[in-house]
Amino acid sequence: MEVREQSIQLKTSLEVAHMRRPGRAVAEVLRALRHSIRAGAATEDVASDAERLIEKLGVEAALKGYRGFPRAVCVSVNHVAVHGVPGDHVLAENDIVTVDLTLRKDGWHGDSAWTYLVGVGTPDTRRLLRAAWTATVCGIQAAVAGSRFGNVGEAIEEAAKRYGCSVLDRFVGHGIGRSIHEEPMVLHTGEAGTGGPIVPGMVFTIEPILSLGEAGVYALHDGWSMVTSDHSLCAQFEQTVAVFSDRTEVLTWNGGQEALRADFPPF
Ligand code: MF3
Ligand code: CO
Ligand code: CO
Repeated sequence: MEVREQSIQLKTSLEVAHMRRPGRAVAEVLRALRHSIRAGAATEDVASDAERLIEKLGVEAALKGYRGFPRAVCVSVNHVAVHGVPGDHVLAENDIVTVDLTLRKDGWHGDSAWTYLVGVGTPDTRRLLRAAWTATVCGIQAAVAGSRFGNVGEAIEEAAKRYGCSVLDRFVGHGIGRSIHEEPMVLHTGEAGTGGPIVPGMVFTIEPILSLGEAGVYALHDGWSMVTSDHSLCAQFEQTVAVFSDRTEVLTWNGGQEALRADFPPF
């Protein structure tokens, strides 16, 4: 029988130091893309803007060619939960758009996703964004050395519930390092006090997808996009975190540790 914990690649602090570079590059690109998300832009224009920036930063677009994915970013609009393929779909006022980006530098990866509103949004989309942000930050706050993965899942689920949102529980976070997807699997639901232990040297993503409706999804015929079964809107804030004995560092955030607060969303 496979013992999962044995395949978790713990990182030394030197290795985490290497991972800061792709992490910060991801943060920088996602921040700059705020200006690309506007009514009238096609999702492939967003991808082109991202790819130009990535080249300028001298990092590699890890998603391009990953399992045959064609572009550097996934762009998922409205009820598309994940893996939207950039194309000729044109953004309209009040759409909500999730961009997921993974970059590599010197063989190490950083992975983050951000949801943007086109225009000022509606009361519902603003509640959804706030819920998704809070869920991710509460998950990160539970992801400290000595805690367990069930605490992370419970914190995320509780935050989602407070806003009347669902967690799409078939999508999970993942260990990350020299590969995009490593052990452990990070569930976004669960019960405190259960699950594997969180120990120093772990580097993984927390990336809950929340919807305003049900948690079910199905695949579209393009072979990539997953959409909510009730076509409810979705949002996702993914971050890559590194666990140290005395703190957990968010590698894909360049807004300062203080600003990453559950009650203070940066939008
Ligand atoms: N970045 C995604 C994640 O969070 C992976 C996207 S895989 C792709 O795990 F092939 F769809 F790009
Ligand atoms: Co990820
Ligand atoms: Co991602």
